[in-house]
Amino acid sequence: MSRPSVGDGPDRSVATDREPTGVPSARAPQDGRAVDPTAHPAWLPPEAFRALGARRVLVHGAGLLVDTVVDEVGRACAAHGGRARRTALADDPVDDGVDVILALRDAGPLPAPAARAEAAPPPGGDDAPLGDEGFLLTRAEGVTVLLADAPAGLLYGLFHLIRLGEAAFAADAPTRRHRPALRRRMLDHWDNVAVHPVMGQVERGYAGGSIFWRDGSARRDLARVRAYARLLASCGINAISVNNVNVGAVEARLLTDRLDDVAWIADVLRPYGVRVHLSVSFAAPVLLGGLPTADPRDATVRAWWAGATAQVYARIPDFGGYVVKADSEGQPGPFAYGRDHAEGANLLAGALAPHGGVVHWRAFVYDHRQDWRDRSTDRARAAHDHFAPLDGRFRDNVVLQVKHGPMDFQVREPVSPVIAAMPGTRLAVEFQVTQEYTGQQRHVCYLGPLWSEVLGFRPWGPSGPAVADLTAGGGLVAVSNVGDDPFWTGHPLAQANLYAFGRLAWDPQADPLAVLDEWITMTFPPATTGDPELVRATLHAVMDDSWRTYERYTAPLGVGWMVRPGVHYGPDVDGYEYSPWGTYHFADRDGVGVDRTRATGTGFTGQYPSPWSEVYESPERCPDELLLFFHHVPYGHLLHTGTTVVQHIYDTHFAGAEQARRMRRRWRRLAGVIDPAVHERVAQRLDEQVRCAEEWRDQINTYFFRKSGVPDARGRRIH
Ligand code: GCU
Repeated sequence: MSRPSVGDGPDRSVATDREPTGVPSARAPQDGRAVDPTAHPAWLPPEAFRALGARRVLVHGAGLLVDTVVDEVGRACAAHGGRARRTALADDPVDDGVDVILALRDAGPLPAPAARAEAAPPPGGDDAPLGDEGFLLTRAEGVTVLLADAPAGLLYGLFHLIRLGEAAFAADAPTRRHRPALRRRMLDHWDNVAVHPVMGQVERGYAGGSIFWRDGSARRDLARVRAYARLLASCGINAISVNNVNVGAVEARLLTDRLDDVAWIADVLRPYGVRVHLSVSFAAPVLLGGLPTADPRDATVRAWWAGATAQVYARIPDFGGYVVKADSEGQPGPFAYGRDHAEGANLLAGALAPHGGVVHWRAFVYDHRQDWRDRSTDRARAAHDHFAPLDGRFRDNVVLQVKHGPMDFQVREPVSPVIAAMPGTRLAVEFQVTQEYTGQQRHVCYLGPLWSEVLGFRPWGPSGPAVADLTAGGGLVAVSNVGDDPFWTGHPLAQANLYAFGRLAWDPQADPLAVLDEWITMTFPPATTGDPELVRATLHAVMDDSWRTYERYTAPLGVGWMVRPGVHYGPDVDGYEYSPWGTYHFADRDGVGVDRTRATGTGFTGQYPSPWSEVYESPERCPDELLLFFHHVPYGHLLHTGTTVVQHIYDTHFAGAEQARRMRRRWRRLAGVIDPAVHERVAQRLDEQVRCAEEWRDQINTYFFRKSGVPDARGRRIH
């Protein structure tokens, strides 16, 4: 694979004291080219590289991603006064002292300190292979040594050093091995090539236009996409899909005559270890190939997919594979031919298998045209009803991509029962980094704690595996929150969600608040702010609990869906109540909630294994925060907290809106302390958050007061 062209500006030479003979020369840093000057640096401002860049750094190894490491190190050293050197030959002596070595173990005999680190026994008996992406870090005799077996490991190790900052060069430290828990850590862009008349350039995008596409064309904005690749690699993301799962006529052609646009993106992302995937239409053989059918059993259809896929790999040898939304919200799929989703997915998997690709087949299949009067249909059941019977029938290179909850990225849902129901299928869990239902990047809503809860959920109880274990072979996917906004994510603090997604996909056991702390340190380096401790304390105060705050002032106790239809922003309690979307709360004068029990409801609780099947079935044992997801209860029903449901609704809505006000007050104290552009953008959005939270509070409280007739025990103002 050749390195992509990165423009024609002059190379500035790395601070290299000597080029070993016979090896590729150290790549010059592409100062001013790798980083888009018009975009906010997010968590990679130059200052974040100071600790490494101020030192004498040796990079040992060869390969495209090692070139990237050398670029990064060279740029850091140029900015902070250190010295970057590269060696790749066995006989290259290291005799004049280095502070840090980043070395590939297979690049011939290692420099002496690295060789000694390599020879040391693994701590805690952890001698499992580092794999394609892992690395080992140690510090002895005043030298920090980072070793990897493959170039990607060196790149991830480099960003680990950046996160550690000075701590990477402090006291000697025992060897620690780092490996990603999940193999594929992927972002799905819901970006359209052509502007969709309703959904726009980016479906559910809240950060401007697409960084890839504009008005029907590829943007080919090299600096921006390269800067993006760098952000992704630095938090551990190794795959993206480049277009919306709803594949329109223009987007369908990315697979064939517009493949060059996809190849261009792949070329720019490749040096950062990010592979490209494509959302395709199941009807592509008809739409693009002119065939009369897309039936998986038809030999011409199979041949068409095989041919189209071979052409993709001829152009993009490391292409990741396809993402498919089939028989869902109007997208074509195998049902049209009387085939099930195993046959549908296996058709595409068969075409990808010879090339090592995977198909991410989405489990988001339900009836979006249901009659609200029909109480026997429960959207929450749909994915399990469709897919659980197919377990064991999917090819190895099918990854069934399951939304984390059974509905659709609501602020609170139980974990999807599909995840426990398919031991014979590779699974990926899908999150939504874009804040469709969680404030649309106008509200601060740090989602790390939500994702951490999902990844740590144990469907068979405390002694069984967690969701992260069950998806290790498939991976973690999220809908991207990035656009061409100068802050990448519209709300500058929403950058933390992108960062946390990558970090939790690498290490699902990481503490989400520690991850947030990392993000704070890198995004607001202490040396660049007027009052580092105030900055840190304020960001934690504003962000740590912001997901639960959002939950407090929106739909209560897991019931969801009280949003304005279509846009999914702001309150509209009955907006979806008589709609065909399967999204109801059933509030009446006596009570609220959806009866999903086996005893009297839709039977959804029966899709869970024990103990959750019994826990969710029982209104007494069901966790408060999910009560209305599983049960229809009277307003006077007592929660575990000792409060009635209706009083809980009042209390949380007053508290949530007040919390939003407190967030805004806290934020104001950072005026003049941090970058004014960031401060101003966040301040504006907090004004909107406060307004919107109060609107939610008043509509929800008024609605339930009028329905129930029960006054607020504390006599607060309800309209
Ligand atoms: C949600 C979202 C849609 C999206 C769909 C999906 O329903 O509102 O815009 O297409 O999820 O995940 O496919």
